[in-house]
Amino acid sequence: MQGEPYLKHLSLNREAVDNFNVYPFSIGAIAKLQQLEFHPQLTFFVGENGSGKSTLIEAIALALGFAPDSNDAGQNLSQLHAQLKLHKANRNPQDGCFLRAESFYTLDNHMDELAYLESYDGEPTHRRSHGESFMDTLSNKLKGQGLYIMDEPEAALSPLRQMAALSAIHRLIEQDSQFIIATHSPILMAYPGATIYHFSASGIKQVNYQDTEHFTVTRDFLLRHEQMVEYLLD
Ligand SMILES: Nc1ncnc2c1ncn2[C@@H]1O[C@H](COP(=O)(O)OP(=O)(O)OP(=O)(O)O)[C@@H](O)[C@H]1O
Ligand SMILES: [Mg+2]
Repeated sequence: MQGEPYLKHLSLNREAVDNFNVYPFSIGAIAKLQQLEFHPQLTFFVGENGSGKSTLIEAIALALGFAPDSNDAGQNLSQLHAQLKLHKANRNPQDGCFLRAESFYTLDNHMDELAYLESYDGEPTHRRSHGESFMDTLSNKLKGQGLYIMDEPEAALSPLRQMAALSAIHRLIEQDSQFIIATHSPILMAYPGATIYHFSASGIKQVNYQDTEHFTVTRDFLLRHEQMVEYLLD
């Protein structure tokens, strides 16, 4: 098990921001950002669509030196990473990556090109389904002692595979890894003891798992799905 985190906290260099009225600094969660502490093992970013999770997680990944994958190459990446101050531990992770389910095929091919996977079994990853290939990376390619940044890893995964992903994440945590994950999955964010940050227009605030909208809305829907659907379709 691990001691201190690889990434301890970050802060926004507010003096260097020219204009808080333009993207990405105009997003409520970023505009109010002072300092954010990371859990030594697992930190989640949750919140409504458009609340700024991807913007911040992408900036963290860039500030850590994880290159944008080729899907990002032509895109207008925000300049937020240039204004982030990352406070790292003295020890360095031995492994690391930035995974986004939506661009996963590209990144996976890229990782294969780099011979990232020493124990790769030779089966071309692109012949597998999106979710199978993502699970393969999580279970077989990540080596541990790593700092892993993920944006909506659940996007490709069935509920059962999300549970399998939770086990794989736990194994990597036991191998001295740290994760920062943006997610909408009430399954993933159930990891015991994780820090959950809720993003909204009023800023970034820590919440308990059972107080997240993801937990309460999913629970209420499943418990009363017939009434809920009747109401929604009325
Ligand atoms: N390149 C860009 N230029 C201007 N605005 C942008 C850009 N990229 C994102 N935004 C806006 O910034 C806000 C935050 O977007 P972001 O992708 O970070 O949200 P998110 O929390 O990851 O949402 P989701 O849960 O849907 O993935 C949104 O309103 C979005 O429209
Ligand atoms: Mg997003």
